[in-house]
Amino acid sequence: MSEQQVKPTLLSGIQPSGQLALGNYVGAMRNWVNLQQDYRGIFIVVDMHSITVRQKPADLRNRCLSFAAQYLAAGIDPNENIIFIQSHVPQHAELSWVLNCYTYMGELNRMTQFKDKSKRHEDNVNAGLYTYPALMAADILLYQTDLVPVGADQKQHLELTRDLAARFNNTYSPTFKVPEPYIPASGARIMSLQEPEKKMSKSDSNENNFIALLDPPDVIQRKIKRAVTDSAREISADSLTKPGIGNLLTIYAVLNDLNESGIVDTFAGRQYSDLKAELSDSLVAFLEPFQTRYHEIMTEKGYLSGILDDGAEKARSIARKTLSKVHRKIGFVAPGRMK
Ligand code: TRP
Repeated sequence: MSEQQVKPTLLSGIQPSGQLALGNYVGAMRNWVNLQQDYRGIFIVVDMHSITVRQKPADLRNRCLSFAAQYLAAGIDPNENIIFIQSHVPQHAELSWVLNCYTYMGELNRMTQFKDKSKRHEDNVNAGLYTYPALMAADILLYQTDLVPVGADQKQHLELTRDLAARFNNTYSPTFKVPEPYIPASGARIMSLQEPEKKMSKSDSNENNFIALLDPPDVIQRKIKRAVTDSAREISADSLTKPGIGNLLTIYAVLNDLNESGIVDTFAGRQYSDLKAELSDSLVAFLEPFQTRYHEIMTEKGYLSGILDDGAEKARSIARKTLSKVHRKIGFVAPGRMK
């Protein structure tokens, strides 16, 4: 326990929308697992973020539990890390309100995710979608986070978080740690299977675009077979830089721990169809133990809720300290001091 406290804090969150996909594993969860030796991890299922887009209540409820179980199945150790559901810790909403009052509309107007999502959900451009970066900043700053692993699409939000932390610290006195981004050394980006120019997204309306971590073997085989490539048939060194086939090579390389020359050596001169067949086998073999563990966790009813309750309690106790400092500095009267 005392050893745990000297470890710096790493924090990350995934929105419970869509289905966790291979892109999430490679881009995020795999790094969480690898970094848990050196960091005390805080891993959040950010349900409050996900309601910026309409969700079906029953699906949202199931997905929150399912995502938490997948964090565990991926290898996050709940004894060494804190795993919880964002809405179980009310300090996120409370701090986000305060931070909203220190965030300029000009800053929010520049956020590319807001611009993208407003285009995609034109009938529901709500205020939450707009102020979402202040909630994300609250997620991070409540825990005096040192490191935030982020993909390219979240860099802008992390920059804003850093600016808000510094702004608050300068206005009052040091209150928040200013977090650093963590850009993974091997930054393999996993792209969509049908539209390989864009990132593989777990919320894509076309399920053929992604491999879900819970896809059964026949679905994996079908999705890989249908993955878009170009009109060539044979793999060469150039294939790595071509959108469709290059992405399949990248996925194979990640799963089999190969570097670029290793992957080219393995497949040069062979058919695209060979790669697809071997890639399906690799994926099935890789996901099988993950899925077995996941189903075990989901059937042990009390186990998961015990972990989430415990995580939320630990999170609240850290968050409460930061929030009460914030309230004091901005001039809120402490409860119990009114008499
Ligand atoms: N905004 C992130 C995304 O859409 C999710 C997120 C919410 C997050 N809070 C976070 C990521 C805190 C890292 C740290 O992917």
